[in-house]
Amino acid sequence: MQMNPFSRIISGVMNWGSWGARLSIQQMERQIDFCVALGITSFDHADLYGGYTTEAEFGRAFRTAGINRDQVQLISKCGIQMPCEARALPLKYYDYSAKHLQYSIENSLKALKTDYLDLLLLHRPSPLLEPESIAESVQKLLKQGKIKSFGVSNFTPSQIAWLQNEIKPAWNQIECSLTHEAPFFDGSVDYLSAHKMGVMAWSPLGSYYKLQDSKTKRITDCMRALKAKYNCAEDQLLLAWLLKHPSKLHPVLGTTKPERIKKSLEALEINLELTDWFLLLKASQGEEVP
Ligand SMILES: NC(=O)c1ccc[n+]([C@@H]2O[C@H](COP(=O)([O-])OP(=O)(O)OC[C@H]3O[C@@H](n4cnc5c(N)ncnc54)[C@H](OP(=O)(O)O)[C@@H]3O)[C@@H](O)[C@H]2O)c1
Repeated sequence: MQMNPFSRIISGVMNWGSWGARLSIQQMERQIDFCVALGITSFDHADLYGGYTTEAEFGRAFRTAGINRDQVQLISKCGIQMPCEARALPLKYYDYSAKHLQYSIENSLKALKTDYLDLLLLHRPSPLLEPESIAESVQKLLKQGKIKSFGVSNFTPSQIAWLQNEIKPAWNQIECSLTHEAPFFDGSVDYLSAHKMGVMAWSPLGSYYKLQDSKTKRITDCMRALKAKYNCAEDQLLLAWLLKHPSKLHPVLGTTKPERIKKSLEALEINLELTDWFLLLKASQGEEVP
């Protein structure tokens, strides 16, 4: 794998625009400055965020932020065709044809006002994906200098193996957290480490702030003592749990709140004791490991 250029904590841009906080261009500019000053230099996009509008808003903000392009890493994803105001489509589907890949990347570059993406991810696996055609398109984009590296998102190990016959993805961005811990047990993360692929974890806080269920309650109860022991907040413990994994995965943060972004970095300093890691796992799973 090439040298890893991405910051350990990645800022997810999905909630910056109309799908979330509806930040103004000036607020986005401040958010970019704020993240970069903290050392969070990698930004995770997808063409469809905000109904295909958020990349362009970020691009406008980035242009005025006065930050050199080589100080940041821009990640984007493509392949999901979603009906919305910007695209009159009959339904949601996946398109990984050579024509659509080229079109999508050129669109993303134009929107982000940049000449290249540091990483292009295929957003979701399609049953109709053709590895040979993907390899050809990606090689062309690499050669054109429009992308620096290539990866996938939400791919299973067997889907990656299929693709690897033709081209080797460097990253897989997957859903992974204390409440969505299956990738640590079902071979997903082991496969990536075995093949020297990097792991990015989306929704790193899982369902903790989204669901009021018995799992959340067990985790809250478990965290009470741990918060005091490690002198930290709940979201920091959730991140520290993920960061302890030897795959050295990169959490992709969803919050747009500056204070929460800043505090996430402190999670890098928390080294959970082994038994505390398993206590949290037990709280999530509802029982001890077998
Ligand atoms: N590859 C894919 O298929 C895929 C899919 C989904 C997402 N993603 C990427 O992953 C990123 C993160 O996803 P996510 O938003 O689900 O991740 P997350 O970091 O797990 O955040 C989830 C939510 O938790 C809330 N939160 C954080 N700290 C909190 C606290 N202390 N108290 C209460 N609420 C708190 C945040 O709300 P506030 O904003 O109010 O803080 C945020 O909306 C996205 O931006 C996107 O880049 C990728």
